Amino acid sequence: MDTYSRFDLELVKGKGVWVKDSHGRSYLDCVAGIATCTLGHSDRALRKALSRQLGRLQHVSNLYRIPEQEELARWITDHSIGERVFFCNSGAEANEAAIKLARKHGHQQRGIERPVILTAQASFHGRTLAAVSATGQPKYHHGFEPLVEGFRFFPYNDTAAFEALLEETEAEGPRVAAVLIEPLQGEGGVNPGDPAFFARVRELCDQRNILLIFDEVQVGVGRSGKLWGYERLGVRPDAFTLAKGLGGGFVIGALVTTAKADLFKPGEHASTFGGNPFACRAALTVVHELERRDLVAHVAAVGAKLRQGLEDLVRRHPDQLESVRGWGLIQGLVLQPGAPSAPELVKAAIDHGLLLVPAGPNVVRFVPPLVIRPRELKQAVKRFETTLIQLTAAG
Ligand SMILES: Cc1ncc(COP(=O)(O)O)c(C=O)c1O
Repeated sequence: MDTYSRFDLELVKGKGVWVKDSHGRSYLDCVAGIATCTLGHSDRALRKALSRQLGRLQHVSNLYRIPEQEELARWITDHSIGERVFFCNSGAEANEAAIKLARKHGHQQRGIERPVILTAQASFHGRTLAAVSATGQPKYHHGFEPLVEGFRFFPYNDTAAFEALLEETEAEGPRVAAVLIEPLQGEGGVNPGDPAFFARVRELCDQRNILLIFDEVQVGVGRSGKLWGYERLGVRPDAFTLAKGLGGGFVIGALVTTAKADLFKPGEHASTFGGNPFACRAALTVVHELERRDLVAHVAAVGAKLRQGLEDLVRRHPDQLESVRGWGLIQGLVLQPGAPSAPELVKAAIDHGLLLVPAGPNVVRFVPPLVIRPRELKQAVKRFETTLIQLTAAG
């Protein structure tokens, strides 16, 4: 179906941070399947582990115990604030699970008949009906009304507005089941959370027994330069969702909860494919490689270099570039009004052998595989600069 405006570019193979098209041209991939190919393309460890898994077992139902799933859940809970994990297949599906969990918390723990979930303006939580209803961007709602009820929106990082919305929603008693929020807004423009704002949200949630749920689908699993985005903010959520980078390009999503938010009982939520042996083997390989290669520290170090390179670009091209924002290996270059748009730059960069992705109309997003090396990052910045100069001269 015509759901994507696609580039006329057929990518047929890849190695590390490089991909090749069907004409044999090479591209430096700073998209990574949109923040997904954690270990880059055709990673040796993934190839070996998945070939072995294919020779053993691909799929069995969750009616039975799945050792790979238990091992992955144990790794996640050993390395996070989480104590229980539900596995599914995507970010939207993980958020669907979180939304159901939030509503259950509202009914069961707060006695709310029609629970409300507070989410941020400019957020992105996925495209299924509940996830898109939770998304604070009207452009994604248009044409799909009626939306799922029970979501109210506040401006991201705005403490006074958040407090006002909470007060208003709870004016006549408990109404709010949860706050669902990204630690850094990815699709909404690479906008990092403000620790002071998040600390206050945490405090207010604690006061009222409201669940605080983080959507870590884009920044989780090392991309922020910490294993989890919440570590960047110094705030512990009651639950968080994962997908994208967890499987390194293989299909998996997860809802991770603390004991307090472990509310589902058998039969209340499910997924046929969720957490099958193949998907869990992929994710286990990703997280073991993260550890073995010390990739989180690597992301922090090369992320700082990328940041520096982009800041230098801003200084050299102040008429086109306004600023840089982000964490680790998710960095957004904010364009000046009147500069070429992010989609124009992204399209032009393809001709210079560089793959990038916009985050809204005026932010160009750099989300390369976490294994990218400093000299490759340097090349990415250089190729972007060449693109910018050419496009500006042409325009
Ligand atoms: C923060 C966030 N949540 C959820 C999603 C949806 O994930 P998926 O496309 O796997 O459903 C995305 C995808 O971009 C995302 O960035």
